[in-house]
Amino acid sequence: MKFIAYSIDQDEAPYVNIWAQQHGIEVKAVKDDLTAETAALAAGYDGVSALQMISYDAATLAALGQQGLRFLAVRNVGTDNVDFSALNHEHIRLSNVPVYSPNAIAEFAVTLMLTCLRNLPLVTRQILKNNYHEAKVYIGRELQYQTVGVVGTGHIGQEVIRILNGFGAKVIAYDPFPLKQSPLKFKYVDFDTLIKEADIVDLHVPGIATNHHLINTETLSAMKDQAILINTARGNLVDTPALLQAIKSHALAGAGLDTFEDEPAILTAATAGTLAQDSRWQALLNEERVMVTPHIAYYTDQAVQNMVYRSLDNLKAFVETGHGLTEVTKK
Ligand code: NAD
Ligand code: COI
Repeated sequence: MKFIAYSIDQDEAPYVNIWAQQHGIEVKAVKDDLTAETAALAAGYDGVSALQMISYDAATLAALGQQGLRFLAVRNVGTDNVDFSALNHEHIRLSNVPVYSPNAIAEFAVTLMLTCLRNLPLVTRQILKNNYHEAKVYIGRELQYQTVGVVGTGHIGQEVIRILNGFGAKVIAYDPFPLKQSPLKFKYVDFDTLIKEADIVDLHVPGIATNHHLINTETLSAMKDQAILINTARGNLVDTPALLQAIKSHALAGAGLDTFEDEPAILTAATAGTLAQDSRWQALLNEERVMVTPHIAYYTDQAVQNMVYRSLDNLKAFVETGHGLTEVTKK
């Protein structure tokens, strides 16, 4: 058996090599993303490992199917960028890595909460302009005294709550599938109550169609005065112009965003060395009370190692048993 791994950079390459040596299985690592054009590279391999924010669209999956590939193992959690009907049409089986380090994303979400509470985006802008006194005027708030509303109590949401329990913050949460039991300290409330009562609204839900613009003009206007929004989940959960309006009108105190509505366009522009033309993106970057990061909440040594190993473990299991270890059949 032999596999091909797409989008492998310096950070992942050592783990690919270690896994290949440990298992005595050839894994070809390529830098390219998996697209309709690059699918030809997979000819002759038994499975594909991939990690990308651009879509696994119908053309890409058809091209993979033409090469006889039947196993696709993504190295991440979210599968919202996969065309499932094309996947089924090509009889390609999919796996993800549902738990590579929920703590990595949870720590980052809490970092964004603290960043916003202590006004660091504003402070940093002033200090970089050498405005020392102006950088000292932003009085902060303490996490301990905030009510944090965690939307989604899956793997990541639970880790966030665990960390927040350590800070002594009050935690309320909403999930249509609540945990039956948990050692964590928090209270389930309905979504509307969470939105109304939380000082910080923190999103940890998938970017599936039903969650599109979960945070919109209506929800933003129901949020507490001076509330903060944190989104490390998926960009499409938030209506960006509505958020910008809430920030500009000072209804919201700030936002910490690791994801954006149209990341492929930003990536394409960044790769071309040009400015992204999306005015929503530029407006977010210009907002002094918004902290924007480039989808890096997951990005730790621990997480990257697990992403590589578990995706290759999935491919091996697919070939040996016909089943992936963590197969995904629907979004
Ligand atoms: P998970 O599947 O363990 O948990 C998601 C939870 O959300 C589930 O309990 C589900 O019932 C709940 N949910 C779904 N829709 C909801 C809604 N409208 N309101 C409230 N709850 C809802 O997933 P996870 O591992 O916790 O990951 C969550 C998301 O985080 C992923 O889907 C992915 O989009 C994102 N993510 C981002 C990064 C990053 O680097 N920024 C890394 C990993 C995952
Ligand atoms: C995920 O695992 O779902 C992420 O958002 C990480 C990213 C590298 C795609």
